[in-house]
Amino acid sequence: MERPPWAPRSIDISVPSVARIYDYYLGGSHNFEVDRQAARRAMEFLPGLPKIMQANRAFMRRAVRFALAEGITQFLDIGSGIPTFGNVHEVAQGASPGSRVVYVDHDPVAVTHSQAVLARNEDADVVAADLRKPREILASPQVQRLLDLNRPVALLLVAILHFVDDSDDPQGAVAELRDALAPGSLLILTHASYEGIPLPQERRLGAVDVYHDIRNPLIMRTREEIARFFEGYDMVEPGLVPMALWRPETAPEDEDPYAFAGFAGVGRLGAARAKAGRHHAAGAAGTQVPCTRRNGRGA
Ligand SMILES: C[S@@+](CC[C@H](N)C(=O)[O-])C[C@H]1O[C@@H](n2cnc3c(N)ncnc32)[C@H](O)[C@@H]1O
Repeated sequence: MERPPWAPRSIDISVPSVARIYDYYLGGSHNFEVDRQAARRAMEFLPGLPKIMQANRAFMRRAVRFALAEGITQFLDIGSGIPTFGNVHEVAQGASPGSRVVYVDHDPVAVTHSQAVLARNEDADVVAADLRKPREILASPQVQRLLDLNRPVALLLVAILHFVDDSDDPQGAVAELRDALAPGSLLILTHASYEGIPLPQERRLGAVDVYHDIRNPLIMRTREEIARFFEGYDMVEPGLVPMALWRPETAPEDEDPYAFAGFAGVGRLGAARAKAGRHHAAGAAGTQVPCTRRNGRGA
């Protein structure tokens, strides 16, 4: 198989990657036959996967516009993926020129392609790093150069935490990032979930197994488990809801249950919590996560 210029020598292109599988679901061109095969296998169990991914991307863009409306012009997007249509920097800088964006991903194709896309963009950059090592992200030259952590930042953890196993302490990583942020910062998060989805057990397990086979665990957490990532944040209305239902700009086109296989939410860091975190004080504020499941699929 010939190696295209966007595939660094360091990667084994005979092994599927979640970043390239996602690129395939979104109709991108940075994927190989092994990725497409894995994607098609998962779709045998969850035919609506591309719809879920599109709902996820659409939420992300709405949430970025929400952050801009709140006056936030700094974005830290961890697990940013392979650049495709409607990236965070395009939405943010299109609406507010000069907005600063730092992308972070541990996938070499995502990083290499992001570097190429951002080559002439002085206000955006990418870090090759792992969410499980938040200190390295925060100390990176790119974050230090572009983001002022004394002012509010929108932290995006969009479709990444379901790839981090509990044994790797995702809660700890999310808390460490929260404690580095200024009051008024936002956490923009989505997470895959089967909660409320009428799916037989064998089909639930089938899609998860595909990811296990490519050595990338896919953890389908419950809504309650996902809500815990917002500890210390005050939930922005409408709370933690199916992705398509977070402040939709148009009525959801169909009622396909697969488009609801995941939750989205935005949390705002209050002054008291940010101060406590920054001083490593004990006693985090409780998480308030109202649920508004308009489609009646709530579990
Ligand atoms: C499904 S894609 C999501 C891309 C983008 N955030 C979006 O929602 O459109 C997940 C991305 O997270 C990255 N990723 C997974 N685990 C990661 C980790 N521990 N640290 C950094 N990136 C990670 C993958 O490489 C992939 O690019």
